[in-house]
Formats: sequence, C-alpha cells, structure tokens
Amino acid sequence: MSDPLSSPVTRRDFLSTSAKLGAFIAAAPYISRAAEGPKSDQLNVALIGCGEQGSILLNAALKIPDIRFKAVCDIWPYRRTYGERLLKKFSHEAKPYEDYREMLANTPDLDAVIIATPDFKHSEHTVAALKAGKHVYCEKLMSNTVEGARAMVLAARETKKLLQLGHQRRSNPRYQHAKDKIINGNRLLGRITNISGQWHRAVTDDFGFPAGQGLSEAKLNEYGFANMHEFRNWRWFKRYAGGPMSDLGAHQIDVYNWALGVNPRMCLASGGVDYYKTHEWYDNAIAIFEYPTKEGVVRATYEVLTTTSAGGGYHEYFMGDMGSLKISENPKYTKIYREARAPEWEPFAEKGIVAAPLSGEGAPPPVKPWEKVGVKKLGGPSKAVVDVRETAALSAWEIPVTLDKAIHQPHLENFFDAVRKGTPLNCPGESAFATAVTILKINESIAAQKMLTFQPGDFTA
Ligand SMILES: NC(=O)c1ccc[n+]([C@@H]2O[C@H](COP(=O)([O-])OP(=O)(O)OC[C@H]3O[C@@H](n4cnc5c(N)ncnc54)[C@H](O)[C@@H]3O)[C@@H](O)[C@H]2O)c1
Repeated sequence: MSDPLSSPVTRRDFLSTSAKLGAFIAAAPYISRAAEGPKSDQLNVALIGCGEQGSILLNAALKIPDIRFKAVCDIWPYRRTYGERLLKKFSHEAKPYEDYREMLANTPDLDAVIIATPDFKHSEHTVAALKAGKHVYCEKLMSNTVEGARAMVLAARETKKLLQLGHQRRSNPRYQHAKDKIINGNRLLGRITNISGQWHRAVTDDFGFPAGQGLSEAKLNEYGFANMHEFRNWRWFKRYAGGPMSDLGAHQIDVYNWALGVNPRMCLASGGVDYYKTHEWYDNAIAIFEYPTKEGVVRATYEVLTTTSAGGGYHEYFMGDMGSLKISENPKYTKIYREARAPEWEPFAEKGIVAAPLSGEGAPPPVKPWEKVGVKKLGGPSKAVVDVRETAALSAWEIPVTLDKAIHQPHLENFFDAVRKGTPLNCPGESAFATAVTILKINESIAAQKMLTFQPGDFTA
C-alpha cells in the first residue's frame, strides 16, 4: 500500500533511498524510455511534490506510453534530485524547480501537472496550474478546507481544464466490477442495509530525514512549515492536513459515496489524541453515517485506528439482505458472501460476475443440508428446533477480476485518456468535493462532540 503511514519511511529507510533507486531501475526493464521525438499523442507532464506518493505516481506514469516529463518541482532538494535522477535514467530531460510558479512560467508546453504535495498546498497548486492552462491530477484529500476544495472546482470550471483527484479505487477494475456488476447491476447483495469499513494499522514511528538534508528554518517558513518535524510529519498537524480520517478514511468513505450513489445525511464521530505524544490529529477515530438511498436508509460505520493492526487491515464491507461484499485495495481482504436465502449464484458465475466459492484456507466450514435453508437444528434428530438467526450458511465467493498493474496506474491512465480523447474522468473535482465535505465534517463532529447533519447543497461546489 502506498500511504506512507502504511509503509512508514523511517530515517534509516530514507538513507537507503538512493540505493533503492538504483535497484528499482535495474529491476524495471518494462518501463519505457521517453519517445525519441515528439509524437502527436505525446503529453508533456510535470510533477509538483516528489515525496513518497509523488515518486509512486512518477513510477506508475513512466509505464504509460507517450508521457514525457518536462519538469519536476519540489522545495526539498533531497526529493527533487531523486525525481530528476529517476527521470533522467529514462531519458526524460525534466528540469528541476524549487518554485512551482517559476516552473509553470518556464514550461509553457506542458499539457498536464500531477500534484502530490501536502494537502494544505493542493488548492494553491491546483488553481495556479489550471489558470496556467494545464490539466491537473491532484492527490487526495482534495484540500484540508472546504473553501480550498471549492476554489479548485471553480477554477476547473472557469478554465475548462480537467481536474482529477487521486481517489484511485474508482479506476481499479475490481472496484468497478464490484460497484457496477455486484452491488448495482445484478444487485447480488439485495437491499444494502449497512456498511462498515476500517483501516487498522500498528503504531508507527514519526518520519525522520537523512543527516545533513534538513531544510533551513527560513526555507521551511517560506513554504509554510514550522520545522523539519512538521515538514516530514505534516499529516499529523492541523494546519497542513486532516489527520488519519483524511489520510486513510478519505479513500474508503469515498467508496461508500461512490458505490451508493448518494452522500450521507448525518455523521457522528468520536476520536482523540489518546496515544501519540507528538501529534495534533486524532490517532483513533470512529464515525457513524446515515445514507438516504432510494431503497431506505443505509447505516454505515467507519473506523481508522493507528495504534493496532488487529482485525484484518483495511476494507469496506457492504452488507445486504442477500449477500455481503468485503472489498479492499489489497485483494487478500476481499470476499463476497451469499446469504442462504438468496437465489443461487451459479448463473452469475457462468457470466463471470462472481467466481466459484472459495475452497481451502479461508473457506467457510462445509454447509450441512439443513443449514442450506438458513436454519440451525438444535438437539438430536427427534427434537428438531430451528433457529432462523443462523448465519453460518453464508457461502464465500470471489471477484473474478484482478488488477495487474500498480494500483495508481489505471487512475492516471483514465486522466491521460480524458486529456487525449475526452473519456470521462473517474474522479472529477465535483465528486471529490463531496468526499472532502464528508471527511472534513467527521473531524468537525469529533471536535463538537455531537451529531452533525448535511444539507444536500453542502455537497455542491
Ligand atoms: N492516493 C494515495 O494512495 C496516496 C497515498 C499517499 C499519499 N497520498 C497523498 O499524496 C500527497 C503527498 O503525500 P506524501 O506521502 O508523498 O508526502 P511527502 O511528505 O512524502 O511528500 C510531499 C512532498 O511535497 C514537497 N513539498 C512540500 N511543499 C511543497 C511546495 N510548496 N512545493 C513543492 N513541493 C512541496 C515535500 O518536499 C515532499 O517531497 C498528500 O496529499 C497525500 O494525501 C495519496
């Protein structure tokens, strides 16, 4: 998983980055080098923010044909040099910049800009790039303020440029299959009544930086950071980001909104700085939502815990009266369950909607004939008592769709296709705005210690 908190970069990890870069390049012969000469469908691209996620997007974009990086911008020479060197290895003569304004002014032939800076800079960087006439792919969370997110949508509208936000599950073929063919479409879950979701991760150390690579206090202040600790751990501080609910929950609550096709009408949340001593944001937070769907209310919960990895990692679990779908960006957490009362799923397996029930490890215990109708027999055969609450007759099936690329690649491909061919974006500004409003309200509810409601107009920029 790409979120740095899920694969924390400690000071030691950071020191070995250069060595890893060499190893990565050696191990990646499938990455195409830049085209020898300009092609008609070649897109000129720049990256702003070449940290953890910027590098991941860079590596994914390098696998997409006819993308030529012309510039890379980062205020930290350590990361800027990393990006510049990586691109050079693949014959992309990307000019390094510290200041994005200089980059935009000096690179007029850019078609698109990818933005992977800390959340509090997304709005400024996106609006400037759009106003310079570039299409923008910007990372989530859209912004750490509703006003910032709104300005991004309005700028895209005004400039008629494309704006895609980095909720990459929307372009993941497994998620698309689940949403379009299982939840909606064939409606294998029946009426969805509940969703639960979680991201549980173990305690992590704060990020450090290599000796001698720190930025000066003056330089940090110039770009809005208080000190190196906050610069490296910005996601835990209120002036730069929205904490774990925004960092991790944003991906998953975006899936709730997207799959149901509606936004919530209320949220109630609890959280606190209960564990870490050096952070401002809640380390653990739990939220409840009500979604007013056409079929009735869907009650949903979501929890992000950063102090324990117990309970199976990260997933979204859609629960209906005919079946349930537990889906995750990590395929190992994904399963579909058929309720005993649901029609047989074999016909759907024949059409490739689901795959045959799991067998072996992870499979449910064999179903006895009298359990098939969802009843449990207590006592001996002569004293048959049924318990219709029995749930053991659920059968576990699989999603017959896999993602054979880096998890961000299809979302970048969708963005570049939209620029080249006008294909619809999978996560345009308007959709991401609704998710940002939802996420920021959770933090508000925690601070207010009360239930907060949404008005339908809240979700429109
Ligand atoms: N989609 C995903 O799965 C996913 C995963 C991780 C992070 N993200 C998002 O990506 C973004 C970056 O996160 P990260 O983990 O890479 O953080 P990071 O701290 O590793 O990288 C941020 C980079 O931006 C640079 N930077 C800061 N201010 C800048 C400025 N004014 N101009 C130019 N560069 C600047 C920093 O020097 C740093 O190199 C965040 O918005 C985060 O939410 C998304």
